[in-house]
Amino acid sequence: MNLDQLNQRITEIQAEVAAALTDINNVDAVRSLETSVLGKKGSLGSLITGVKDYPPDQRGQVGKSVNRAKTLIKASLDERLTQIQSDQVTAANALAGDFDPTLPGQPRPLGSVHPVTAVQWEVERLFERLGFTVEAGPEMETEHNNFEALNIPASHPARDMHDTFWLDNGKVLRTHTSPVQHRSMLKFGAPLRVIVPGRCFRYETLDASHENTFHQVEGLLIDRDISLGNLIALAKTLLTEVMNRDVELRVRPGYFPFVEPGIEIDMNCAICEGSGCPTCKHSGWIEILPAGMVHPKVLEAGNIDTDKYTGFAFGLGLTRLAMMKYGIKDIRVLNSGDLRPITSPTRIGGPIVWSRRKTPA
Ligand code: DAH
Repeated sequence: MNLDQLNQRITEIQAEVAAALTDINNVDAVRSLETSVLGKKGSLGSLITGVKDYPPDQRGQVGKSVNRAKTLIKASLDERLTQIQSDQVTAANALAGDFDPTLPGQPRPLGSVHPVTAVQWEVERLFERLGFTVEAGPEMETEHNNFEALNIPASHPARDMHDTFWLDNGKVLRTHTSPVQHRSMLKFGAPLRVIVPGRCFRYETLDASHENTFHQVEGLLIDRDISLGNLIALAKTLLTEVMNRDVELRVRPGYFPFVEPGIEIDMNCAICEGSGCPTCKHSGWIEILPAGMVHPKVLEAGNIDTDKYTGFAFGLGLTRLAMMKYGIKDIRVLNSGDLRPITSPTRIGGPIVWSRRKTPA
């Protein structure tokens, strides 16, 4: 290519770039145009590489022409780029209205409440609406409150099921929340409506459904003319509301020394919807609410006048209810330090989702 032809070609390239730039509206397109013109193999870039092939006396002239063209083209590309970027900011501002991109970001909530806590708060809100007081008791309990006051003397076979951790000071890690029945009777007298959410401990071999540390919610209602019918109606309201579905109940006789009669209230299994699965031991039912009419001996131990008052009590399996509600198959994940969301096949039910509620006062 002689000098005239070269200058002719340079003029063409400049015209091509100018034409292309009028149609281009995004940053990527400007960048790819730049590569296709100024890159080593680009239309102008290859002319620049070819300067060395001209005879020495022409190289100065050729070099000047191509470099001048390069500077002009680069300037026009940069100008377009700046224009596009400023148009983008203007468009984003128009979309965002009053949004101020220079303000610091909103802090993202890290983590959330434990599933058992979430269900506990839900149960507390429900019972508060029904006029119950939320009570607490110590996790380190006297043998008397954990057993004797509940009609479980030292020789009673029921103690076998409550094998627990005995402490050097003679106390026990409570095996259930029921001792707070006794504490509440002494504290408030009758009539009485309390629930007691809390952590309990038993000497257990760990498996998918047994933990040495678990949560219950004790319930106690003492008043005139209280019947099992009231208890079953309450159980239906409670479980239907927490599970957010129409829960079917099954009521069976059950034995607990501190109630007479004692019953077991089961609900249809949420994991298999009652058709049978390992979680419900293929029965379709989950034992969730052992309960009964408070034994006269327990009322007497709590200084309640048994001629005037009767009452019912229950011991809701809070941990089990949380597992049902969120489809958690293995109890062990609840006390482990594994913070991954419960989504893997061994942890069915998808991520845990609940609305944040205020901490109980
Ligand atoms: N405390 C019992 C347990 O942990 C559960 C229980 C059964 C509590 C019947 C009650 C009740 O209040 O009436 O095994």
